Amino acid sequence: MTSPGPVQPDQELVAAARAVRANAWAPFSSFAVGAALRHVDGRIFTGCNVENATYGLTICAERTAVFKAISEGARPGQFVAVAVVADTDEPTPPCGACRQILWEFCGDVPVTLATPTEVREVLQLAELLPRPFDVRFLEKP
Ligand code: THU
Repeated sequence: MTSPGPVQPDQELVAAARAVRANAWAPFSSFAVGAALRHVDGRIFTGCNVENATYGLTICAERTAVFKAISEGARPGQFVAVAVVADTDEPTPPCGACRQILWEFCGDVPVTLATPTEVREVLQLAELLPRPFDVRFLEKP
């Protein structure tokens, strides 16, 4: 038996995250991020970061993508992959808040971290968020 080998990046998803990054609204940090989610039916949902003068009301690219998808009718558990693009030397993984949101809506999917020119890493979300809080804990005994 052969082992499955590393998960291959979804190149079309990475391209979508790169493209939407151009729409980032980041006048305070100048740090533009693009994210894309692959739906099980093949559709791609994208998001960019949108900053706010209060700073704290800023929303990251990953959460924009999730909330756009949900508002378009996609349901939790229907996503199969995530891509995140930022222009950094080290790959930029999602922030802690986004890891939690991604976990609840996407589960343990592959997360491709890329720059405008290179795919850097493909990690499972469970590697990025071990021992997550999730909806199981809300179930009454
Ligand atoms: N940001 C994202 O959009 N995604 C991440 O994974 C990390 C951070 C945004 C938030 C803020 O607009 C800027 O990057 C700097 O933190």
